[in-house]
Amino acid sequence: MQLIETIAPLRAALYDYRRKGETIGVVPTMGYLHDGHLALVERAKAECDRVVVTVFVNPTQFGPSEDFAAYPRDRERDLAMLERLAVDVVFAPTVEEMYPRPGQTTVSVKPLGDILIGTVRPGHFSGVATVVSKLFHIVQPDRAYFGEKDYQQLAVIRRMVADLDMPLTIVGVPTVREPDGLAMSSRNVRLTPEARAAAKVLSRALGEGERLIGAGEADPQVVLETMRGMITAEPLAELRSLDLADAETLEAVERVEARPVVLLVTAAFGGVLLIDERVAHPIAELNETEPGGER
Ligand code: PAF
Repeated sequence: MQLIETIAPLRAALYDYRRKGETIGVVPTMGYLHDGHLALVERAKAECDRVVVTVFVNPTQFGPSEDFAAYPRDRERDLAMLERLAVDVVFAPTVEEMYPRPGQTTVSVKPLGDILIGTVRPGHFSGVATVVSKLFHIVQPDRAYFGEKDYQQLAVIRRMVADLDMPLTIVGVPTVREPDGLAMSSRNVRLTPEARAAAKVLSRALGEGERLIGAGEADPQVVLETMRGMITAEPLAELRSLDLADAETLEAVERVEARPVVLLVTAAFGGVLLIDERVAHPIAELNETEPGGER
């Protein structure tokens, strides 16, 4: 495994792979790796000849009052985990390498990046789209792997790639969870034991929302109010956003009818911001796809 910290030698290493006709997969991360990241790496390894993992805590996607400084970092641990998975290259640049001068160019995916979580984290998705676009230009991968936990991020990146004709395939990988349902996140390590216990309310509320929709509830407000009630009953939860949207377009939905929807939640527990998602299938759609169901 090669550890590369600057762009020029990375390009040289990747040029060699490309010259031999090998396909390249990239897994962009902010480090402090967990099993969710490892699932992305495994998938990339299964589908590509060479795998590059990027480890970079990107300052431009954190708001002024967000946790850039407190975001967990442990480079040695990350490298040991990636070595065990035998990835080909780890690209771990400094902030100066990625942003050597004040940038004048940004990528904004609008309105997709301004709605939903974009309303509580203004500028976040522009920071993500800009750094991911830079990483794509640096690595020039054939395929790039992202977790479905960051559902809106995945939608924003897919849209950016389509709108800007970027020549690669984006692969979404299902959320990996702890045994009690908590979605794996690098931020989980910052939860106190009490906040960690409280945080499982998110996956319980998402499960209840999914159950209601699967049982025929078509009114988004009923679903959201039930979920809101569960989350706000947890004293340590500070609910920041809770949305129900079309699973493909992320547009607001007036009635949950034949198309799948996504439930998206953002909440802080003891100051640690967590997000989670669940795609829910309405009863009409479930009936359509059941074996023997009407088509
Ligand atoms: O999901 C993340 O870890 C980050 O948002 C990403 C995609 C690596 C961009 O900094």
